[in-house]
Amino acid sequence: MSEQPDDGTEFRELYPGRGAADLTVLYEPTVDPRRDRHVRVNMVASADGGTAVGGTSGSLGGAADHVIFATIRSFADVIVVGASTMRDEQYGPARLDEHHRQARLERGQTPVPAIAVVTRRAELDWQAPFFAEAEVAPLIVTVGAAPHPPADVAGVVVAGTDGGVDFGVALDELVRRGYRNVLVEGGPTINGQFAALGAVDELCLTDSPLLLVGSSHRIFAGADLATPARLALVSVVTAESFLFVRYARAEPALAA
Ligand SMILES: NC(=O)c1ccc[n+]([C@@H]2O[C@H](COP(=O)([O-])OP(=O)(O)OC[C@H]3O[C@@H](n4cnc5c(N)ncnc54)[C@H](OP(=O)(O)O)[C@@H]3O)[C@@H](O)[C@H]2O)c1
Repeated sequence: MSEQPDDGTEFRELYPGRGAADLTVLYEPTVDPRRDRHVRVNMVASADGGTAVGGTSGSLGGAADHVIFATIRSFADVIVVGASTMRDEQYGPARLDEHHRQARLERGQTPVPAIAVVTRRAELDWQAPFFAEAEVAPLIVTVGAAPHPPADVAGVVVAGTDGGVDFGVALDELVRRGYRNVLVEGGPTINGQFAALGAVDELCLTDSPLLLVGSSHRIFAGADLATPARLALVSVVTAESFLFVRYARAEPALAA
């Protein structure tokens, strides 16, 4: 079994195997060699499908969820997040434990992933710790007319005109800059646009043992997809009554 943090949490693999779960093996992205990128969405939802309580997702998680969250982050070249999530969840700079940092360095990655914020208005506090204390400079993914941050604070990806970011253009530019493993951490509005583009290769879903009721979004928001995107089950892990489910895009079989 490969090394993972020993915080006392017992993770049990339910599928495809059964027994103690090796998270670093179960969550390693499976990059399709036919694609130049891998887009993974990671979200937590209550058992009744809610994504936020009082405007944040914090109370949906727990110690086990934090371990999985960090494991998933540890594989990413870049984390993409909507500006509302960044503001509502008070995002700080990416931080990882030493064993994740070491594994990344051995894979030729930076010690922590960059975080890219999608914003139309780009009205962000450039002095906030998210920017000022970042180990790897964040990126702003925005439109041409938006205000730009000072060059030493964040990189800028311009991927659209006033109407909004074109997610296809943004993804192409991220890949061109070397960010192939893309982790999308929401919110639902951002996730919905990746799904509309047909760009979601993988969904990591934490099923939290809570009932919320309320009116928060589902994990993907937006218009109905013209055709539902079919997923295939990759793995299921449980700890502390949470279910951690990994789905991959169900690819049609290649012609012989
Ligand atoms: N359960 C979970 O795992 C989870 C994860 C993440 C978030 N959440 C929750 O979800 C809520 C936030 O999600 P949300 O869906 O409302 O917002 P969001 O997706 O986080 O961000 C929406 C913002 O992104 C920018 N944006 C969206 N589409 C754009 C486009 N095409 N071009 C340019 N900018 C674009 C805009 O920013 P500007 O306004 O700056 O232009 C927009 O206001 C919060 O309550 C958060 O706690 C839950």
